[in-house]
Amino acid sequence: MVRENWGSRLGFILAAIGSAVGLGNIWRFPGVAYENGGGAFLVPYLVALTTAGIPLLIMEFTIGRRYKGSAPVAFRRVNRNAEAIGWWQVAISIVIAVYYAAIIAWAGWYGWFSISQQWGEDPSTFLIADFLQDSGGFGDFGSWLPDIGIAMLAVWAFTLVVIGAGVKKGIETTSKVFIPLLLVMFGILVVQALTLDGAVEGLNAFFTPDWEAVREPGVWLAAYGQIFFSLSIGFGIMITYASYLKHKSDITTSAFTVGFANSSFEILAGIGVFAALGFIAFESGVPIAEQSYAGVGLAFIAFPTIINTLPYLAGLFGVLFFASLVVAGWTSMVSIVQVPVAAMEDRFGWGRVKATAVVGGAMAVVSLVLLPTASGLMFLDVTDYFINQFGIVVAALVSIVVTVWVLWRWKELRDDANATSTFKVGPIWFVCLGVITPVMLAGILYLNVRDLLDAVPGREVYNQYQAFGWALAGGALAFGVVMALILRRRDVPAIETEEE
Ligand code: PHE
Ligand code: NA
Repeated sequence: MVRENWGSRLGFILAAIGSAVGLGNIWRFPGVAYENGGGAFLVPYLVALTTAGIPLLIMEFTIGRRYKGSAPVAFRRVNRNAEAIGWWQVAISIVIAVYYAAIIAWAGWYGWFSISQQWGEDPSTFLIADFLQDSGGFGDFGSWLPDIGIAMLAVWAFTLVVIGAGVKKGIETTSKVFIPLLLVMFGILVVQALTLDGAVEGLNAFFTPDWEAVREPGVWLAAYGQIFFSLSIGFGIMITYASYLKHKSDITTSAFTVGFANSSFEILAGIGVFAALGFIAFESGVPIAEQSYAGVGLAFIAFPTIINTLPYLAGLFGVLFFASLVVAGWTSMVSIVQVPVAAMEDRFGWGRVKATAVVGGAMAVVSLVLLPTASGLMFLDVTDYFINQFGIVVAALVSIVVTVWVLWRWKELRDDANATSTFKVGPIWFVCLGVITPVMLAGILYLNVRDLLDAVPGREVYNQYQAFGWALAGGALAFGVVMALILRRRDVPAIETEEE
């Protein structure tokens, strides 16, 4: 069996951008920026991008390319005792994929609904009561919702077919089509949003800088948190994608390209989302601060309300918005599912089709059983919260501390990256990766734990389901350790790489 390579550097960059540009760009970044200083947030945000995002991206790209393996194999090659980190990242990816598919499926239905504004006068009731049939409870997995189930089945089928087709024929080809398509669709949407009454007030709400905010540590931690999540770094995705790079490819320029492309898309999304929110504030008189300006509420309540109110081309606007969510979410989903699939290929010598069918199939079944139910929204909310606030943050922290400090591999990685890159890294990279990034991750973790223990109003749900959340976040770690122990004495099968 032969391990594939990307067909071209552009293909790799587009696939990495496809992973990075996701729901987080559209429904997370605008709200985070708005809450944390508006225009002034761009300062901590760009600092976070350059001092943590890109340095960690460089580390993950280099590990992937140098050790030619998905996360467990790559970390085992960094050091025999580090394999657990890779399996832990695999577990986190599995959990994320299970609920990510549901959001894409909802967005697919909403694109269809926007044509006739099927959600009616009250999108909020429609979403919760009619569409999701949310029970508000946690154990109602018995009631299967066929509409959502079928759309999710389509999402999983398309994902597994593309992954089964391979890195070059599947992932690279679809990225080359979908990333330009996303840009065009979203670009038209933003232009239409900017023509609306109230758009300028929306942009003012988004961009007006609150310079006081820049003095608050919480705002800085929010900026770093957004960067880690947004670049899909810390849990094996970028290591896996980079493992298909040819050895001579440039690392650092690719990292800068992916980092800045993702951030540009976030700022573009901030403009589109806030122009649209300004419009609805203008029409309804309800200020932006009192609307749902992030997450599920933004996409599935605020946007339908906007679409209901639009003076022209409402259906087109809705289709463009939800199609953008589907495409942005789906390219991220592919990158998440590739992590466990590639792990089985590289670590057990399974063929691609077998790995995709077995691992992808199992994930699809769990996802299709749990999510299209009356407890689906609750499951998604709690899982998303714990995996993002704790799983990803701790896994990223451990992977850096072990690689840079415990195993002292940064010099080796630096030389490896520099050997083929135009832009060289040195002591500044070390300080960013080895000091600034872990300190910020530790700070984020501290705030997250404090918030959780404080029973933040509006977060009751997370406090109520702490046992489940901790079991999940802890279970991912335990899975990593157990897999590594089981495989400790078993060598990695020899897999040749394609000719370069
Ligand atoms: N980077 C993606 C975004 O900004 C989020 C993501 C999370 C992607 C987890 C893959 C896995 O939306
Ligand atoms: Na992103």
